[in-house]
Amino acid sequence: MWGIAQLSVLLIAYHTLKIVHATVEYNNEERSQRGMALLNHTYKSLYTENYPSCLMACMHDSQCTSLNYWWYSSQCDLNNRTKYSAEAKVFSRDISSTYMGLMREPGGWTAIQIISFTESNLHFENSPSRISDYKSLSNYSDHRMYVLSTLLLRLRNDMGFKQIRFYCHKKQVGTVLHIMTNLNPLGEAVVMHFIDDNLASTRPQTCGSYTVLPDDNSTLSKDCSMLGWNGTHADGKWTSTNVTGQSRIQFPLNPYGFQDSRRSFVSSYKRRDCDDRRATEASLSPGDTWAIFVR
Ligand SMILES: *[C@@H]1O[C@H](CO)[C@@H](O)[C@H](O)[C@H]1NC(C)=O
Ligand SMILES: *[C@@H]1O[C@H](CO)[C@@H](O)[C@H](O)[C@H]1NC(C)=O
Ligand SMILES: *[C@@H]1O[C@H](CO)[C@@H](O)[C@H](O)[C@H]1NC(C)=O
Ligand SMILES: *[C@@H]1O[C@H](CO)[C@@H](O)[C@H](O)[C@H]1NC(C)=O
Ligand SMILES: *[C@@H]1O[C@H](CO)[C@@H](O)[C@H](O)[C@H]1NC(C)=O
Ligand SMILES: *[C@@H]1O[C@H](CO)[C@@H](O)[C@H](O)[C@H]1NC(C)=O
Repeated sequence: MWGIAQLSVLLIAYHTLKIVHATVEYNNEERSQRGMALLNHTYKSLYTENYPSCLMACMHDSQCTSLNYWWYSSQCDLNNRTKYSAEAKVFSRDISSTYMGLMREPGGWTAIQIISFTESNLHFENSPSRISDYKSLSNYSDHRMYVLSTLLLRLRNDMGFKQIRFYCHKKQVGTVLHIMTNLNPLGEAVVMHFIDDNLASTRPQTCGSYTVLPDDNSTLSKDCSMLGWNGTHADGKWTSTNVTGQSRIQFPLNPYGFQDSRRSFVSSYKRRDCDDRRATEASLSPGDTWAIFVR
């Protein structure tokens, strides 16, 4: 029986695949660029008090795929192209502007973080930078960055997102992990857990809270009841009893204990895991990618 629900899952899957495909190309480039502007593709200009408000205006508007913020006049240009989809000559140098492209796709997902390792950047630095302001969000390809719950809460208030999507792929492990939280009370509980500090220690149930997307072939996502860690056992709940800080959405989804019966949607500063199932973390390869999206 194929209904609207199945059809929309297929459409989402199609768009997600496209996004993931794009992550490699977009690697490290979609951060904001001071001194640049994308000309001739502005569909709306407004005046905003500051750069974050301009970013917010763009996020609010599903047409908006990039922005120029003109520092002296406070003019905020919303563009319907990015530097990738526009002709090269209209992406030009202008000292008084900052350009920022959003990772936007027809599925409506907005990237919060896309980390893709390159040949020259294979070393995972164990020096996290915890971010809580919109401005730092433009650094979303920085592998040291951890988005704090306070920033997610602001995004939620400003954008009204309802779902979170996680993607990772690590060549040495060989699998793709790709899940999104469901549009149901269980999925909503996961979103709330990550944004509301009062719910940090209320670990939501895993089973029924997420959908495994078609390109996922991970071990981690397969058995929801084996996810989560209560200190001694896998207990079918998100994260782990001792992951209650503001950076609890930090991603990799690291298995504590590193045995098949002990893995969970939690993470660690010390490892960059994606479906790793061993005590020794698999090494990083160029193209290994971690991403978090909301919509
Ligand atoms: C961008 O906006 C302009 C002005 O509103 C419009 O003419 C054009 O068709 C839009 N282009 C795309 C790709 O949406
Ligand atoms: C932008 O558009 C104007 C006309 O609307 C045109 O004269 C100008 O050459 C365009 N600029 C670029 C860099 O293409
Ligand atoms: C973004 O990252 C760069 C380089 O790591 C850093 O210099 C800059 O301060 C960061 N910007 C923000 C807004 O955090
Ligand atoms: C999982 O999917 C990825 C990407 O399609 C593929 O490269 C890999 O071989 C698959 N791994 C397994 C174990 O099926
Ligand atoms: C969290 O729990 C795991 C396993 O239960 C343990 O290895 C780790 O040291 C704990 N971390 C903290 C910060 O307590
Ligand atoms: C952890 O989960 C196991 C299995 O569900 C349960 O037996 C145990 O009592 C739990 N421990 C704590 C501290 O909640």
